[in-house]
Amino acid sequence: MPPLKILFVSPEVDPFVKVGGLADMVGSLPKDLAAMGHDVRVVCPAYGSIKIDDSWRARDEPLGVDVGVGAHWGRTWETVLPGSNVPFYCIEHGQFFDRPEVYAGPWGDHPDNDLRFSFFCRGSLTLCQQLGWIPDVVHCHDWTTGFIPLMLNTVLRDTPIGQAATVFTIHNLEHQGYCDQRALDFAHIPVAEFRDDSTESHGKVNMMKAGLYHSTKITTVSPTYAEEIKTESGGFGLDHVLRFRAADLLGIVNGIDADGWNPAIDQTIPATYTAEDLSGKAVCKAELQKQLGLEINPDIPLFGVISRFATQKGLDLLAECLPKVLEGMKVQFAVLGSGDGELETLFRQAAARFPGKLGLHVGFNAKLAKLIQAGSDFFVMPSRAEPCGLTQLYAMRYGTPPIVRATGGLIDTVEQYIESTSEGTGFKFEDATALALANTIGWACATYYDHPQAYRQLQLHGMARDFSWGASAKSYIDAYQWAIATRRGEVSTAPAPSSSTAE
Ligand code: ADP
Ligand code: GLC
Repeated sequence: MPPLKILFVSPEVDPFVKVGGLADMVGSLPKDLAAMGHDVRVVCPAYGSIKIDDSWRARDEPLGVDVGVGAHWGRTWETVLPGSNVPFYCIEHGQFFDRPEVYAGPWGDHPDNDLRFSFFCRGSLTLCQQLGWIPDVVHCHDWTTGFIPLMLNTVLRDTPIGQAATVFTIHNLEHQGYCDQRALDFAHIPVAEFRDDSTESHGKVNMMKAGLYHSTKITTVSPTYAEEIKTESGGFGLDHVLRFRAADLLGIVNGIDADGWNPAIDQTIPATYTAEDLSGKAVCKAELQKQLGLEINPDIPLFGVISRFATQKGLDLLAECLPKVLEGMKVQFAVLGSGDGELETLFRQAAARFPGKLGLHVGFNAKLAKLIQAGSDFFVMPSRAEPCGLTQLYAMRYGTPPIVRATGGLIDTVEQYIESTSEGTGFKFEDATALALANTIGWACATYYDHPQAYRQLQLHGMARDFSWGASAKSYIDAYQWAIATRRGEVSTAPAPSSSTAE
């Protein structure tokens, strides 16, 4: 197979800019694809929060992007994804990107997101033309990149880059990029595209919908989520589009950066450890207890949480059951997150009420996130919806059995603990209720205290699973080839969905 030219276009790329797991995925999969011999490049906006130092190179030629009246001028900065030779381009534009946040400031979504990301979509394609590097496939990620397939099917269709196939990955269908019709004018999209089977939803432009209708193929980040989004209850108003495109939709479970998340070599935690020798994990637990003001005691089971504070993540369920759990069970919680103000308040109140039992850090802190993964005995993720979820994968790798609600990628990646055989990698519960969550925490707690051997087995099973990109990277190559063949008008059959890691 000849190497493919693959362009990743993404609003977030770890470690440069991260809001959630989308950044982790785009920061790691390209490296695995490059290691398989493909020519992969990644492009992202140059937000004010990205530190551009002497190791970066500015391209001499300014980037004239054909949007708005006249053109908008940007500049391209270039470096590589850390630990690889994968070119990473950042598109600078003071007016649009010289602000720290990606999507929203303190007062809500940036009101010019439609213009910012239209510019970014067209700019990414202009950059390829400028580089004389025409990708075989453009891999788009979520609503901010939804105009790319649309542009390639309309204004750019008859240009060399118009031959490129597109694969559009849904990381989270909940956020769709609703905006006014001005976005189409700004992006020079023909007004005829403002229709239900292209860009229009409820009288507005929906950037996610544009991506879903116009991309050559669609993927999402787990096989179960691929099914859920075709249903009314899981489709966020776009289920009819996904049913319409069902033959072009594939679920591929996310992998992880297996070197970046490896307790045996992780230099950010106080002590490294392996499945054979977990003594370093106890050191991490003590340090976590100390840092979050918990009672330093190796014997009390410590439950970790790292999450965006959002109802999608079911943190309201946790907030609701925490008082009863902390009163009734000998447990501790370490909670890291930020987001929804009401949820933040609920957790602050609980932390004030249970000093020494509930340690809380409100904010984004990558180092503390690693310490929580390493130092906790269980990881709690009661998501109402979860396209894939990465934190439960990191938890298993760090010997921290997850407690998850059975939804989306959590169904596909966590194997239910079976008491009679000690099989499994974690605990799953069905109902999105505080009671179901509390009961499952109780079950985990009892396992920890009463069946230490079984608990140890759970830890070891999770640590032994292979969550690296391996099979999923191959599935993406299959998806790209499928898209490329379709774009060329060749007959091609759909690859199989990526095998899930759970039963
Ligand atoms: P989502 O993308 O829906 O937020 P994922 O589980 O896919 O959920 O990925 C979340 C990523 O963001 C993980 O890498 C997790 O460690 C990280 N993360 C989430 N909240 C925080 C936080 N407050 N501080 C540091 N890292 C965080
Ligand atoms: C989204 C989803 C999460 C997924 C991540 C990476 O943020 O909410 O479930 O793991 O994207 O694909």
